[in-house]
Amino acid sequence: MNREQMSRIAHAGHPVKSPLGDDSVRRLLARGLPRGDERVLDLGCGGGEWLLRALAMGPRVHAEGVDIAEGDLCRAAAAARDLGVRDRLVLHHLSAEDFQSAEPFDVVLSFGAAHVFGGLLPTLAAARSHLAPGGRVLVGDGFWERPPSREAVEMLGDFTDLATTVDRVVADGWTPVDGHVSTRQELDDYEWACWGSLAAWALDHPGDPDSSHALATATARRTEWLRVYRDTFGFVSLVLRPTPE
Ligand SMILES: C[S@@+](CC[C@H](N)C(=O)[O-])C[C@H]1O[C@@H](n2cnc3c(N)ncnc32)[C@H](O)[C@@H]1O
Repeated sequence: MNREQMSRIAHAGHPVKSPLGDDSVRRLLARGLPRGDERVLDLGCGGGEWLLRALAMGPRVHAEGVDIAEGDLCRAAAAARDLGVRDRLVLHHLSAEDFQSAEPFDVVLSFGAAHVFGGLLPTLAAARSHLAPGGRVLVGDGFWERPPSREAVEMLGDFTDLATTVDRVVADGWTPVDGHVSTRQELDDYEWACWGSLAAWALDHPGDPDSSHALATATARRTEWLRVYRDTFGFVSLVLRPTPE
């Protein structure tokens, strides 16, 4: 089983691949798409959950998603067909760093994909390059609730605390117009859903050659979460507008 197949099983019960509940996603999208006729881009769109929900907000919304995971993009396309929004969704199978568009976007999303660009600020620089005048960026990334262990930094990356994270974003020329800090419930729900789905799949497929590997992975990831980063990792989502110069 490759990484993408394992990820698909792990996210079966939590299709948004970030630690946010459905109400939080809805509220952030409502803040990001106030008009209902926006062109929306998602850098690292995964299975397209954010874009599908954005498209469902109004018949004049158009969306484009970029990801390197072909299977996720195929599932996004199939879900868009089922929802009757396929004609308003364009999917690009390429690295988000290489994406270019002749037309800018009113909204640029990127959740849980800042590692693609090398961190939050480079992600915002990429988003800015695609943003139309008056546009908004919706971004979600990690921060440290408490000082992390060296192991946690090695595992998840080198974040800062919440206030420093927002200070850096503001110093980079952005004004937060809304935000959301994932609750303990949202963070826990996400981890239980991922490693629970993978473990359940393994138990349901005892004869599959990948079953024992999947179960061992679920156990290892759950243990890492509980022992290494549950008490220190946080996740912040920001709705940003460029600060006038
Ligand atoms: C944690 S998932 C988040 C997916 C989605 N934003 C969401 O919140 O549901 C990170 C995504 O980044 C994608 N990714 C990783 N490297 C990438 C790259 N170089 N270009 C575009 N996407 C990439 C992965 O395939 C994955 O879908």
